[in-house]
Amino acid sequence: MLEKLYNLRKEFLENLENIQTELEAENFKKDYLWKSWKLSEILKWLKDLSNEEKKEVWPTANELKNFIIEQIDKRIVFLEDKRFEKIEQEEKIDVTAEFKAENTWHKHPLSITTELLEEIFISLWFKVEDGPQVENETLNFDMLNIPANHPARDVWDTFWITDDINNFKEAWEKLLLRTHTSPVQIREMLKWEKNIKIIVPGRVFRYEQEDARHTCNFYQLEGLVIWKWINFWDLKWTLNTVMKKLLWEKTELRFRPSIFPFTEPSAEVDVSCQICSGTWEKWWKKCSMCSWSGWVELLWAWMVHPKVLLWVGIDPETYSGFAFGMWIDRIAAQRFGVNSSRMFYQGKLKLNEQF
Ligand code: DAH
Repeated sequence: MLEKLYNLRKEFLENLENIQTELEAENFKKDYLWKSWKLSEILKWLKDLSNEEKKEVWPTANELKNFIIEQIDKRIVFLEDKRFEKIEQEEKIDVTAEFKAENTWHKHPLSITTELLEEIFISLWFKVEDGPQVENETLNFDMLNIPANHPARDVWDTFWITDDINNFKEAWEKLLLRTHTSPVQIREMLKWEKNIKIIVPGRVFRYEQEDARHTCNFYQLEGLVIWKWINFWDLKWTLNTVMKKLLWEKTELRFRPSIFPFTEPSAEVDVSCQICSGTWEKWWKKCSMCSWSGWVELLWAWMVHPKVLLWVGIDPETYSGFAFGMWIDRIAAQRFGVNSSRMFYQGKLKLNEQF
């Protein structure tokens, strides 16, 4: 018996040398341990042995099993290292090489949606503005009426850039990745000359748990109109017109009261879900976009808080304004019938080639 084990070990070591790829090694392991039962067969004979013999053979057999596993694993690591070494030697990146682009005529669905939104807003005489992605705390929070320790800050899970945020006395010294496009409202209002009518599409960042509707970076579109005598009806008309043009004529909007420190009053605006076309009874099993409610939360809005106007030096007695924010990702998902906005960030050609 011991001799059989010894021969098996010898044969194993000889064969091990011939293994050239990681896949072969995996198969070899299966072969020796489980598949063709080379070792198991020997172990089966154990039961015919006397107790004395078993005591003698068992530890050796067990040790052989462990030896086989260990050796094959070592071989796998060795082969892997060799493969990487070869790649390192053979593959060189020539940054001066001429690049022949293929499939470049596809625009990303998020770009298409942003451009569409810009077009629609420009036709309503809005100007397109931009702002930095690295923002300071003052503009991202304080001047939007969200002071430190305000519970509303929890809504905007923040990626801070400044190392030790408590060591900096001034809020404008503390840097972060902007959590929304709203700070550009303040940047624009600080340049105030006369009337504002802008949109700001851009990338924002949040420390989020990812799911079908949340990703830790996404795109928003901010809107701000400051004029004399602006009121809620102007806002409602604007959003209704834009959404109907962007999605389809029958799109409906639903305003729900909400709280945002920089608008007063505030609303969350839902749009009838295009994925299940409002016929959610029929599709309810599939629609992860609207969580089977028939409505998707796409916009936030309402009148700019008088405090915010005062802080930037605009007289709230004469001027009023409305502001709104949209999630471009969710709008793109709605427009193109993609049921998870996370897919936009996976770089899958299968998706992008459809546009
Ligand atoms: N900035 C808010 C957010 O990211 C969205 C928002 C709410 C924007 C109300 C607005 C507004 O302009 O008026 O959650």
